[in-house]
Parts: sequence; C-alpha cells; structure tokens
Amino acid sequence: MDAANQDSLISWVGGKKQLRKTISQYIPNNIQGYIEPFGGAGWLLFYKSKWAQLEVYNDINSDLVNVFRIAKYHPEALLKEYEYMMASRELFGQVRANPGFTEIQREARFMFLLHRSFGAIGEHFGTSKLTPVKSQQHLLKKIDLVSKRLDKVMIEHLSFEELVTKYDDPQNFFFCDPPYFHGHDYDLKFDHMMLYDVLSEMEGKWLLTYDDCQEARDLFQGYWMKSMVRQKGIERKHGDMEYKEVLIANYEPIKQGLNTELWDDE
Ligand SMILES: C[S@@+](CC[C@H](N)C(=O)[O-])C[C@H]1O[C@@H](n2cnc3c(N)ncnc32)[C@H](O)[C@@H]1O
Repeated sequence: MDAANQDSLISWVGGKKQLRKTISQYIPNNIQGYIEPFGGAGWLLFYKSKWAQLEVYNDINSDLVNVFRIAKYHPEALLKEYEYMMASRELFGQVRANPGFTEIQREARFMFLLHRSFGAIGEHFGTSKLTPVKSQQHLLKKIDLVSKRLDKVMIEHLSFEELVTKYDDPQNFFFCDPPYFHGHDYDLKFDHMMLYDVLSEMEGKWLLTYDDCQEARDLFQGYWMKSMVRQKGIERKHGDMEYKEVLIANYEPIKQGLNTELWDDE
C-alpha cells in the first residue's frame, strides 16, 4: 500500500475529511472511471489506493490544480521548497505579502498558508491554547505519498460542465462536491441550476453532496437522498456543533461493507 495515502496534502474549506468514511460506503463497485469534477483537496480520492482503472481529479481553482500537478511531477522540488517553511507568525506574514516567483515557490507558499492558517483559509496564522502545532514532518512525508498516489490520476483544470462532457459514460462514476447553497462567501456565485441541468442529462452514475437545505432538496426532488451529520469546524461560532449535509444520487446506492482497501480513520 505504499503508493496510497489516506490523507490529502492540504485542508480545504468544504473538504470531505470527516465524511469520507460515510460517503465511501455509497460509492458503487464495478465502475470503469472514478471522476471528481469538484476535486478540492481530494479527500475521497486519497481515501482509497485506487477507485477505478480511470481516475480523474478536476477543479476550477488553478492553485489547487497546480499543487497536485507539482506534487505529482516535482515532489523533490516541492519538498525542498517546503522543508524550511517553519510554523512562524513572521514567516506567515511574509508569505502572505509575497506569494512567490516561480510556480514551485507559489504552490509551496499556497500550501503553507493553508497548513498554518486558522480554518485553512489562508488569512490568519493559526494557533491554539490547547492543540499542538501541526507536524511539519508529517506534511513532508505526505508529498511523496501523494505523488505516488497521483501517478495514474488525470489532473484536469476545467469547469465541471466541460469535464462532464469529456468523461460522461454509463460505466463511469462521478463524485460531485460542489460549492454549497449556504457556503463560503466565494462560493455564493455558483450556478446550482446549471449543475442540476448537467447532472440530470448524464449517463454516468453520480453521487452529490450538499448542505442539507430546502433549496437542495427542492432542486433534486425525486432523486435518492440521505442526510448525514458532521461536527462543525470553523463555522462553530455561528451556533450549534453539528452541521447537516445531504447525499443525493441518480442511482440506488447499496451501502457496502467497509472495503478493506480503505484506510482506517485515525
Ligand atoms: C466543497 S469543495 C470540494 C472539496 C473536496 N471534495 C475535498 O474533499 O476537499 C468545492 C470545489 O469546487 C470547486 N469549483 C467551484 N466551481 C467550480 C466549477 N464551476 N467547476 C469545477 N470546480 C469548481 C472549488 O474550487 C472547490 O475546490
């Protein structure tokens, strides 16, 4: 299993780290392609050593795409660049002021800002009264593991509708984790109606996650749905501790026993 890795390289707002175990149980077997149109940090992708013969990661955000391209093709250079980026408030300020000159510098710094910031938003240096500092060594080890895991993963940089046009096939499966209805500020322009139109025309199987809200339930009325709950992260300050999400599918998912190839959560 050395070419696999249970963790992504980065944290990302809306990342499915907490829910990956639950979601993975509804992913069908016997698929030819496993495709993530809204890849983000790719927590589901990295949860298994291989989901299918064809695997595709896609995101519209060029920093995310470049982090994974550089981790895949230039892991040593990324490691060298990151090695001495210590957990320091002063360095955090400098990196925010200067995002880097070369592509490798830029992506190492992008990773650094996510890794060392509060809520992985990249804005404020993250410290805690009680939790220890995140391990630098752990992240350095992950660069090599992620590089190997991505060896046969196609990394695309398209808007989801173009990606779907290229890869839609009855034998393929799409894990769709779009921006949410009531998501982060920068997600609020997302066209949910267009997503509905694209998904409702597809031949492949898809499993979609949304914040569990009336808008999502109304838009996808008639499809299979299941609610899920996760513990809130940074949004905790806005109220209670639990956040409800909904899984929606265009097939009747059969809950699989936990696949032995999946990694156990720590
Ligand atoms: C909720 S995040 C995905 C999180 C991911 N599942 C994970 O575990 O980290 C949604 C992602 O959709 C991407 N996105 C937003 N609009 C998009 C579009 N039109 N096409 C493709 N990706 C898009 C964002 O850049 C963001 O990374």
